[in-house]
Amino acid sequence: MLVAGARPNFVKVAPLLVALRQGGHACQLVHTGQHYDASMSGAFFADLGLPEPDFHLGVGSGSHAQQTALVMQAFEPVLIQERPGWVIVVGDVNSTLACALVGAKLRAELGCRIAHVEAGLRSNDWRMPEEVNRVLTDRLSDLLLTPSRDAHDNLAREGIDSGRVHFVGNVMIDTLFRWLAAARARDLPGRLGLARDGYVVATLHRPSNVDERAALSDILQALARVAETMPVVLPVHPRTRKNAEAFGLVAELAALRTLEPLGYVDMLSLTEGAAVCVTDSGGLQEETTVLGVPCLTLREQTERPSTVEFGTNRLAPWPLTRDGILRAVEQARAQGRVGVGSRVPEGWDGQAAVRVRQALEDYPRARP
Ligand code: UD1
Repeated sequence: MLVAGARPNFVKVAPLLVALRQGGHACQLVHTGQHYDASMSGAFFADLGLPEPDFHLGVGSGSHAQQTALVMQAFEPVLIQERPGWVIVVGDVNSTLACALVGAKLRAELGCRIAHVEAGLRSNDWRMPEEVNRVLTDRLSDLLLTPSRDAHDNLAREGIDSGRVHFVGNVMIDTLFRWLAAARARDLPGRLGLARDGYVVATLHRPSNVDERAALSDILQALARVAETMPVVLPVHPRTRKNAEAFGLVAELAALRTLEPLGYVDMLSLTEGAAVCVTDSGGLQEETTVLGVPCLTLREQTERPSTVEFGTNRLAPWPLTRDGILRAVEQARAQGRVGVGSRVPEGWDGQAAVRVRQALEDYPRARP
């Protein structure tokens, strides 16, 4: 039973579903409904060729406690009724932790096991809701499937038995390679009148960047300064749109080329053509590394250090300031792009989902 709740999850479950079904495994897809807008959910299902979920929990938005509790309440009867051998959770969103927790409490009674795909990433910043979700989900899981080697050090430091930890690589990159040709053919930049390497693509949604007026204002003003020399395209996450309106920052947004949230293939098309990507997303740090597009990450630290070590990612000078962001964008632009797939971490090769399947099949034998 595969669980997906929010936008970045859909990109990760898509290749898993294909690999598991190709391996002859019965598979059910649960959509918790954490993301529900057509642009945040429906467009991804359509783009990624995901089937209708077998179960839709329809939980929607709420506080962290409400959202987590609603997913748990709705998921528990599904698990009891279906009794899957494995519950597979991906990433670090509230739905990930909620379903891992339900599975862990029912593990003995139902005999189910829990696998976490994208295990072991750590920002070491406990103010991030995702960090709480990651650490606890890893603690609860039987099988921890890691996307990069640094994750193994993190898990060893937390005393997690290495017999539970298995390197598989990055399933998100399976999806990228699957859809790259379609994204090029879609040519969103061309349709928007943008030249290749002639614009910056930006995304913003982290609470630490968008939930306080001062932070959001500084970032938008820095992007507006960048836009004086090169168009800045910003598909606007609903959280960011809502806050910009509440904080009276609509004029700042107007200096940018804003779009509604994009589907997967359009976003890939836009990212691949950009001179620079400015983001606080985890997924884009990884995707730009594989695409070879310079990336500036608007965070104090990253749980994906391999994108800095091997890839094209750099962290913005901290604390964020308008001038600091501007300078860092210039540096990223000067760095220029590298070829697709030319400098990537191990296992970011389009075959990670097959290695996940293998790890699940080998599990009873592999367990010490
Ligand atoms: C969530 C994840 C984050 C992930 C991000 C990707 C957690 C803790 N956070 O953050 O890790 O990077 O998804 O987008 O799970 N909203 C809509 N329509 C939707 C979904 C949300 O309008 O379809 C609005 C609602 O006002 C909601 C707000 O966006 O309250 C935030 O949504 P939520 O799912 O709580 O968190 P994200 O910020 O999207």
